[in-house]
Amino acid sequence: MDKLVIQGRRPLRGTLSVSGSKNTALPLMAAALLADGTTILDNVPHLRDIATFSNVLRIVGASVKFNPERHRLRINASRIDFPEAPYELVKKMRASFYMLGALLGRCGEARVSLPGGCAWGPRPVNLHLEGIKALGAEIDLDGGYVVARAPGGRLAGGRYKLDPSSVGATINIAMAAVTARGASRIENAAIEPDVVEFCKALQAMGAQIDGIGTRTLDIEGVDELLPIAYPNCPDRIELGTFMIAAAIAGTPGEPVRLTNANPDHLGAAFIEALERTGTRITIGPDYVEVIAPDEIEPVSITTGIYPGFPTDLQAQWTVLLTQARGTATVTDTVYTDRFNHIPELNRLGVQATAKGETVTVEGGHTLKGAKVMSTDLRASVSLVLAGMVAEGTTDVLRIYHLDRGYERLEKKLSAAGIAIERVQYDEFAQPEPHAA
Ligand code: EPU
Repeated sequence: MDKLVIQGRRPLRGTLSVSGSKNTALPLMAAALLADGTTILDNVPHLRDIATFSNVLRIVGASVKFNPERHRLRINASRIDFPEAPYELVKKMRASFYMLGALLGRCGEARVSLPGGCAWGPRPVNLHLEGIKALGAEIDLDGGYVVARAPGGRLAGGRYKLDPSSVGATINIAMAAVTARGASRIENAAIEPDVVEFCKALQAMGAQIDGIGTRTLDIEGVDELLPIAYPNCPDRIELGTFMIAAAIAGTPGEPVRLTNANPDHLGAAFIEALERTGTRITIGPDYVEVIAPDEIEPVSITTGIYPGFPTDLQAQWTVLLTQARGTATVTDTVYTDRFNHIPELNRLGVQATAKGETVTVEGGHTLKGAKVMSTDLRASVSLVLAGMVAEGTTDVLRIYHLDRGYERLEKKLSAAGIAIERVQYDEFAQPEPHAA
């Protein structure tokens, strides 16, 4: 297995480039199944989740080729003849559940494994199922699988109100609706940039969608969608992670530049909160410059749906607060128990406790390197950030979680001054007995 070994307290400087968005690439890949022919997606990050989802697409009959140097993915969906997403792949990645909408839209039937548990508590799919049922699908559960069928081979279309608003359910329902016989309306639709970009791609394929970027999506089903060549957008969560890295590990007064970015996708709440810590931010059309403050002000945040503070940045914010001169809180209202990183951060000397949906962080304590373990994607990167500001050596174990969503993280950080390397280790090695 691989781990990251970090020698802390080296300044982050220079330029880091942001990769393509994982959470936008995945629904774009699913949408490619709706068109008979070859869809080409550019700016697709070279990540484990993309490889896993490529395998999901291959199972149903698509041919998928990835060029990692060009970050170009070619999906030929001319022959989709096995409408099933098996447990072995869906359990690895919840986004595989997008196959429900994609296969219903393309084949009029789907057999998709339920995703099951997650690293941080329940993440239900009730809204996906209810929404797709509202479009006219017949749905049964069979041995852990959702079996869905469009009567007559094509969904009728219908109306559904999401409560709460959900990124994944909006995407799944929209994917099933674009090729329905009639009209559909999704109310309280998600307006996260991932959803907006996905809807724009569907539109480019020929889908009839009104209200993109608003809470109500009106979709008129069409007979056919066409394959497209489409550029994926930059990863907003990677950008936010690097902005936090620059605030805590940059040299005060010296800008760290983040390129290939789309700052609009971050949402106002994150940028405002980071500015209130004293961090100076300059926003360009496709770059962001961040200047670390002399002293970080403790700023409490509460996550929310877009344009609120992203839940995918709360673990990283907790690390920022360890460097502040005072106490502040992190409250997650989207996933109320997404705090597996706290006991691991405690091992580095972080003074933080989780109670209910809130973590209280006491800043100003020196962090000391230790061995810590990744538990999920964003938790993993928070451990890397903590290792960057801790004294001594930090080993972040089990980084297969990190590899799901951050492309070449150690290469990007080491090129910007951080002492970090990937090392193979034996997860089951026993410590040597103490010599007499
Ligand atoms: N929800 C339900 N029922 C459902 C679906 C969602 O109650 O059927 C609830 C959830 O429990 C949650 C809220 O709705 O409280 C919002 O969840 P949402 O469905 O929007 O999340 P998701 O689509 O499953 C995506 C991202 C996550 C990100 C969330 C929130 C992808 C592949 N995943 O998940 O990203 O945290 O939106 O922004 O796009 C990550 O990248 O690390 C990650 C977990």
